[in-house]
Amino acid sequence: MARTVDDLPRMSAEPASAPGGLPEPRQNAVIDTASAESPVFPPPPAFAERARIKSLEEYRALYAKSMHEPEAFWAEQAKCLQWTKPFDRVLEWQAPHAQWFVGGQLNASQNCLDRHIADGHGGKVALIWEGEPFADGRPREERTFTYAELLAEVCRCANALRALGVKTGDRVGIYLPLVPEAAIAMLACARLGATHSVIFGGFSAEALRDRLADAGAKVLVTADGGWRRGAVVPLKQNADAALAGLPHLERVVVVRRTGEPVSMKPGRDIYWDEALKREAPVCEPVALDAEHALFILYTSGTTGKPKGVVHATAGYLLQAALTMRWVFDLRDDDVYWCTADVGWVTGHSYVVYGPLAERATVLLYEGAPNWPEADRIWDIVERRRVTTLYTAPTAIRSFIKAGDQHPGKHDLSSLRLLGSVGEPINPEAWLWYHRVIGEGRCPIVDTWWQTETGAIAVAPIPGATPTKPGSATLPLPGMAIEVVDHDGKPVPPGSGGMLVIGKPWPAMLRTIHGDPKRYVQNYFSQIRGKYFTGDGARIDGDGYLWVMGRIDDVINVAGHRLGTAEVESALVGHPAVAEAAVVGRPDDLKGTAIVAFVTLKTGTAPAGDLKEKLRAHVATAIGAFARPEEVRFADALPKTRSGKIMRRLLRDVAAGKGPQGDTTTLEDLSVLAALRQEEE
Ligand code: PRX
Repeated sequence: MARTVDDLPRMSAEPASAPGGLPEPRQNAVIDTASAESPVFPPPPAFAERARIKSLEEYRALYAKSMHEPEAFWAEQAKCLQWTKPFDRVLEWQAPHAQWFVGGQLNASQNCLDRHIADGHGGKVALIWEGEPFADGRPREERTFTYAELLAEVCRCANALRALGVKTGDRVGIYLPLVPEAAIAMLACARLGATHSVIFGGFSAEALRDRLADAGAKVLVTADGGWRRGAVVPLKQNADAALAGLPHLERVVVVRRTGEPVSMKPGRDIYWDEALKREAPVCEPVALDAEHALFILYTSGTTGKPKGVVHATAGYLLQAALTMRWVFDLRDDDVYWCTADVGWVTGHSYVVYGPLAERATVLLYEGAPNWPEADRIWDIVERRRVTTLYTAPTAIRSFIKAGDQHPGKHDLSSLRLLGSVGEPINPEAWLWYHRVIGEGRCPIVDTWWQTETGAIAVAPIPGATPTKPGSATLPLPGMAIEVVDHDGKPVPPGSGGMLVIGKPWPAMLRTIHGDPKRYVQNYFSQIRGKYFTGDGARIDGDGYLWVMGRIDDVINVAGHRLGTAEVESALVGHPAVAEAAVVGRPDDLKGTAIVAFVTLKTGTAPAGDLKEKLRAHVATAIGAFARPEEVRFADALPKTRSGKIMRRLLRDVAAGKGPQGDTTTLEDLSVLAALRQEEE
């Protein structure tokens, strides 16, 4: 049963090759931690014995090779993919533009499906799907697909999309709940060489329209609705609203999920089952160039307009697959569960492409992990004998809050590895995850990466890397992680700086769809020749990375990335609002909560339910997850002489270090602003 942290062995703080002792307490702007000393957890010997990478020395040798002979290293690694045509050159790097595996051809869906079947694994379970249950806990729907069955569905879907006019190079939007059809549609696009753009089902109609318009999508795959905490999410209704005024979007495929009546536009809309039933379960995969755009995924940046991050087929798939081996130490009998939605990059890389390329058995769960009962997630782990659980710190913190009695009711002995992603994990949550869920037995992999990196960039190798709660530990092979000052010089161990990546890597984004200048400007204009992540971090004396959170105008709310400018532009879209400034405030549960400072148009009274209306307005413009926690009216926003909003000041005010109350007056802010200006 659960042991306490004190029962666990501690590594002596003498690393093999790095100087220095235990790290200082973490200086985290987002989640502050008070621990004076970080405990160190060596890989459990029983885990290391069976692991693919068994020692720190093995990891270091791999890492050294990847840095000293990157092309030879990646050429060797690329053998784990099935190539229709071998590549001629590993890398063409004309900074900041990379092309990997030039001349090579392959198909991602073939790599995820056909080759496993050809190897005799067609009968292995690929997907286990559970729909959200009824409110009384009775199962509503469950489906399982073997690799052979999944391939047949993917082929039917690919044929149906082709019949609707989809060709190699077209874009297809996918706006679905977490149902098997989401993975099937993605793989069907990949099979044809149509670039998919999945839009998270929590996005509103307006946000959906913006993304479909930017991507120039020709076909949309959606559903009549989705289940969330017993309520229906009206996806088709949102899609209908989004599609008004999108002439390039010709056809809509509608998955029947809820059975709710929805309007079907003749000549445009067709039900998924009707479109697929007349199609054959066979479809030749199209051989695509290594650099062919596999998908576009929109993510928030520092302007109001989301960025369409473009990923290329081969490099992306390669690192998604390799990290399944390195970080999740995937074995054939694992039941692997990543709780992310396919609408985010984690769902792309670690629900669909990475695990299926590595022939995993993947669990998909449609509902919320704590509905209808707080122990829903642990009930699934027990029933399905889950071995690997990959989730977000916000979820972990909500499980802590709900109480240990919930996991305590369940047999969690099938778990062998636990993962965390999306935001900094505070050491308290890490320790709880380790002790209560992992029962002291399971290594924890805190994985740092981004939509743009495509795959995990920094994380422990579970059989090799000693872990420190709160640190994502060491860079994975191929990832030239550095923390530098504004001049690009590495900062000394323990000092904070900008987190950058010094060398190209195969799964790096290739561009921003339709805006190549923004690619250069956003990622390569800060530090010469290096990719800037937007994060602040420090590296301790052992070479361990401690991510401190975003240092640009992006905030991370419950693991969801949001641009402050995006929320601001939603707010100023309301007729009452003159100006808005949005900042993050530390939040025990979500990591960061959104606080909006709003000035109203002359003559508009800050009366009644206006705050509530503004919060709802943001939910309509972006999605419910972007709804500000708090709206504060101010009679003006504090600005520098050059007119820039003083966000640091507003952050202090939001965090309770400045004027409080229902209305923030100009005098309050101007006094603080004057003080600040003297400081700056
Ligand atoms: O700030 C970092 C944070 O999430 C950002 C990337 O967000 P997104 O592109 O939506 O991808 C999320 C899933 C990979 C990063 O810039 N972040 C992600 N993982 C971690 C993290 N911060 C600290 N520790 C992590 N493990």
